[in-house]
Amino acid sequence: MWNIEEIKKDVRKNLKDYRYNHSLRVMEEASSLAKHYHADIKKCMLCGLTHDMCKELTDKENEEFIKKHNLPKELLNPENKNIIHGVIASILVKEKYNFTTDMVLAIKYHTTGYPKMDLIAKIVYLADKIEKGKDYKGIEEERILAYQDIDKAIILCLNNQIKHLKEKNESINKIGYDTLKYLKETTN
Ligand SMILES: [Fe+2]
Repeated sequence: MWNIEEIKKDVRKNLKDYRYNHSLRVMEEASSLAKHYHADIKKCMLCGLTHDMCKELTDKENEEFIKKHNLPKELLNPENKNIIHGVIASILVKEKYNFTTDMVLAIKYHTTGYPKMDLIAKIVYLADKIEKGKDYKGIEEERILAYQDIDKAIILCLNNQIKHLKEKNESINKIGYDTLKYLKETTN
């Protein structure tokens, strides 16, 4: 696996300043959540750093990647427009940096979570939502809950995500609803 400094330089090349800075803040937040919950700090930091590394690919580049890697064409459909960058990044981090399976999954589903997500995936999902540069309605409550009860924090974030998307006449990917359902059933 490459080291963090090498990966930073590589990620930097593919992102605009604001998104690279967001990635660094997600890395920091992931590190602090990992310390709090006794997760693998390095793995969480690396996932935070790389989770959006494919978010600035063009439609054409996405299409070529899908073809080359024999991925389902449905990924190019509108309902998947918010998750495709995670899917592509999850393949690249394995190919390029040799990330482990738990990291690959955390990156693949960082936008929606997934049912039965592990601690690394939970941390990466939350760090992306609550990093220090973000400011939206309800974030303070999310930030507090993130360090009190990680599952309840994810439920709150998913519900807020759904609400915000509805306001824009958009909807969360089906996996987001599946995650919410699963967490509600398994969390007291
Ligand atoms: Fe992000």
